[in-house]
Amino acid sequence: MDFIEHEKRLLRPENFFQPSPGKGIGIFKTKNNKSIAVINLMGNVFMKKSEDVFKTAEKFLQIYELKKNIDFIVVDIHGEITSEKMAMAYMFDGKATVVVGTHTHVPTSDCRIMEKGTAYQTDLGMCGDYNSVIGMDRDNSLKKFLKDQSAKKHFPASGGEATISGILVTADDKTGLASKVQQIILGGSLQERK
Ligand SMILES: [Fe+2]
Repeated sequence: MDFIEHEKRLLRPENFFQPSPGKGIGIFKTKNNKSIAVINLMGNVFMKKSEDVFKTAEKFLQIYELKKNIDFIVVDIHGEITSEKMAMAYMFDGKATVVVGTHTHVPTSDCRIMEKGTAYQTDLGMCGDYNSVIGMDRDNSLKKFLKDQSAKKHFPASGGEATISGILVTADDKTGLASKVQQIILGGSLQERK
C-alpha cells in the first residue's frame, strides 16, 4: 500500500527528459486484485520541451499488453492541441482501456468508444469554477492579456460554484477494453447551461 501511495505522488509525464524526479508510469491494484497501468504523456506541440511523445508511447506498448501482462491501461495525454491527442488515441485504440486528454481545462464533446474498443475524450476539462479563465481569476487574467501593469501572478477564481468534469468508464474484465463511457459535467455554471 505504501508503495502504491508513493507512486501516485510522483506520477509525471513519462517523456520528461532524464533525469527528472518521479515516474511516468504507475501500476496500481484494484480491490479485486486487477492491475491497472497508468501512463502520463506530455504533448510536444506548444508544450514544455520533452522527448518525442509518440516514440515514448510506442516503447510503452512494446512492454504492456492488455490481458497478457496487465488488466487495464489508462493513458493521460497532457497536451494543448486536439490533433496530437486524437492521433495518440488512434495509436492506442484496442490496446488501452481509456485514453483521455488533459491540460486545456475545457471539456470536449467527443466522448466515445473508438472502433477497436478504447474509450476516448480529447479533453476531460477541469474540476473547478468555470466562471473564470481556465480556473484563474478572470479580471486578473484579462489584465494580463491587456498588459495592464497592475496584473498579478495568476491566482484561482474564488466564490463561484465548482463544476466536476470528467468521464465514467466501464471496462470489460475479459478484454480490458471499454464497454461503456459517459461524460460527467456536474454542478456550477457549466451544468446550468442545459
Ligand atoms: Fe497543464
